[in-house]
Amino acid sequence: MKKLTDCYILNNGVAIPCVGFGTWQTPDGETAVNSVKAALAAGYRHVDTAAIYGNEVSVGKAIAESGVAREDIFVTSKVWNKCRGYETTLAAFDETLRKLGLDYLDLYLIHWPANKTQFENWDEINRETWRAMIELYRAGKIRAIGVSNFLPHHLASLVASEVVPAINQIEFHPGQMQQETVEYCRAHGILVEAWSPLGTGRMLSNETLIEIASHYGISVAQLCVRWCLQNGTLPLPKSVTPSRIEQNTQVFDFVISDEDMATINSMAYCGGSGHNPDTVTF
Ligand code: A2P
Repeated sequence: MKKLTDCYILNNGVAIPCVGFGTWQTPDGETAVNSVKAALAAGYRHVDTAAIYGNEVSVGKAIAESGVAREDIFVTSKVWNKCRGYETTLAAFDETLRKLGLDYLDLYLIHWPANKTQFENWDEINRETWRAMIELYRAGKIRAIGVSNFLPHHLASLVASEVVPAINQIEFHPGQMQQETVEYCRAHGILVEAWSPLGTGRMLSNETLIEIASHYGISVAQLCVRWCLQNGTLPLPKSVTPSRIEQNTQVFDFVISDEDMATINSMAYCGGSGHNPDTVTF
């Protein structure tokens, strides 16, 4: 990848810009509108939101007012947990399109798998949700479909279905690489997107990362974004601060050495959301 608009190619041939703009925890209203506009002005062409973030209306407003053509922006949203199932997913999708003010999505994801802690029939629920996703995809309302926070055992029945997920968006940052899931995804042609590539900011004060970033004269945030790319994942850095939004795009004029990659890749857990998809109760 040499620039922000260079793309990964998904398993159905759709191109997805290699860095996406994250909006988790971005407050709805002016903050979301202004940060998404700042991102599009800085050159991002990929915006990631979700129904549960509560900011779809503002994200849609920013896209409409940005002056960038709709077809030049890759837009992702996600179906929230309380809408799992066939009919409810179809309805949730309509609501998401209405809020965004769009007539199609580039990517729609199941936000979290139904898990064994909450449901005896977790696999059946996931398959029913996926059936709705496939229907929306086949109807041409979504260009690609995928999942988020799925572990290999959650993915198994979807991989065996008529449409293999194109994406699995997981928590991925130094100290939390989810190698088993990443390897499973790779083996099945599923691209891994990295949510919280900066560990929701927790990586920024890590001594090892500060030291490595200093080798390149860059920030830890830039190091983390670049590190995701060099690991073949698609980072979704979030910021509401124009200078940081811009800074996080400056990741194409340096290469992290093999030695530094190995050091970061072997870092022990140093903070994260703490969410295990098998045990979360939301
Ligand atoms: P803010 O949104 O206030 O600018 P993640 O992408 O892992 O979820 O991390 C997001 C957090 O990291 C937010 O708190 C964001 O702050 C902060 N952040 C994003 N980019 C940078 C940067 N380049 N420098 C410092 N902090 C950053």
